[in-house]
Amino acid sequence: MEEELIQIKNTAVSLILDILDRKTLEEVKLQFLGRSGKLTLVIKEIAKLPKEDRPEVGRLANEVKKAIEDTIANQELRIRQLTDQESGERKEKIDTSVPGIKPDIGHLHPMTQVLMDVVDVFKTIGFQVADGPEIETDYYNFEVLNIPKDHPSRDTQQTLFLDTRKSKVVPGEVILRTQTSAMQGRIMEKIKPPVRAIVPGKNFRYEQVDASHGFEFWQVEGFLVDTSVRLTDLFGTIDYVLRKLMGEGIKLKFATTNFPFVEPGVDTYIQCTVCNGRGCSFCKQSGWSEIMPAGMIHPNVLKAVGYDSQKVTGFAFAIGLSRLVTLRYQMDDLRLLTNPDMRILEQF
Ligand code: DAH
Repeated sequence: MEEELIQIKNTAVSLILDILDRKTLEEVKLQFLGRSGKLTLVIKEIAKLPKEDRPEVGRLANEVKKAIEDTIANQELRIRQLTDQESGERKEKIDTSVPGIKPDIGHLHPMTQVLMDVVDVFKTIGFQVADGPEIETDYYNFEVLNIPKDHPSRDTQQTLFLDTRKSKVVPGEVILRTQTSAMQGRIMEKIKPPVRAIVPGKNFRYEQVDASHGFEFWQVEGFLVDTSVRLTDLFGTIDYVLRKLMGEGIKLKFATTNFPFVEPGVDTYIQCTVCNGRGCSFCKQSGWSEIMPAGMIHPNVLKAVGYDSQKVTGFAFAIGLSRLVTLRYQMDDLRLLTNPDMRILEQF
């Protein structure tokens, strides 16, 4: 019986050491240690041995059982380590056939895209690009533009004043600019004619916000001063620029209007692209949208900046940039442009 026990131990141990999966290990465990396992059956036989032999064989049987149990436990551990390692490797494996995930890098805001186009078009016809302050003085925003303190047109500009009570500034002198025209004086004071410049920028007015008006809006102011500049030069420039920006097929019309810093003043209308001229809330049912006010620079402005109004003439204009963007993309509400909702912005 002793021999039998030792043989059981040897076969069991060598078998177990070759096993690399839990299921087989479990089966082998039953085969030897289960209720009718090889070792169990032999142990049962011990009772039939002569009394004096029993303790010795019993001890050996226990040793064999322990050896088998220990080997199984060790092997279990090994198997676990091996499978852990394997799954780790699997995680690291790169499947090069899987299509990549496109990184979301974003893009320029539609306002910026259109602004860049506007700048490009004007550069090709010799305009330089200037930048100016959003906090402006009454002088450049109004006075130099032939809008003295008591001028009625100031009422149309819903000016936002800065609270300067704690400074030495004369009350009412510092404002948020209401128009980028404010840069006309600043530039013309510095540059002698001929001059061609555009000034993109933000303006601020105390406005009732609606589909086509904002309290904060973008304009691209522009002007040109030279010898013998005529109204037809202005029409030609507007026509050229707007067709480049909005497409050759657009419909434009001009009407006279009044701005203190131009004479005559011109309003440029583009047929509404939202409704194709049929009339909608964006164009206030008129079928037309005002897009580019302009005019011949008033001699008083030329004089105020030190130009000789007998020798030079010029024209000025302003593109309502926010409106240009909404018209180009047929958006029926200006407020969509300041809405941070990605579902809107992702469309451009
Ligand atoms: N600055 C005017 C405004 O915001 C727009 C304007 C009209 C600008 C006529 C011009 C111009 O340069 O000639 O209401």
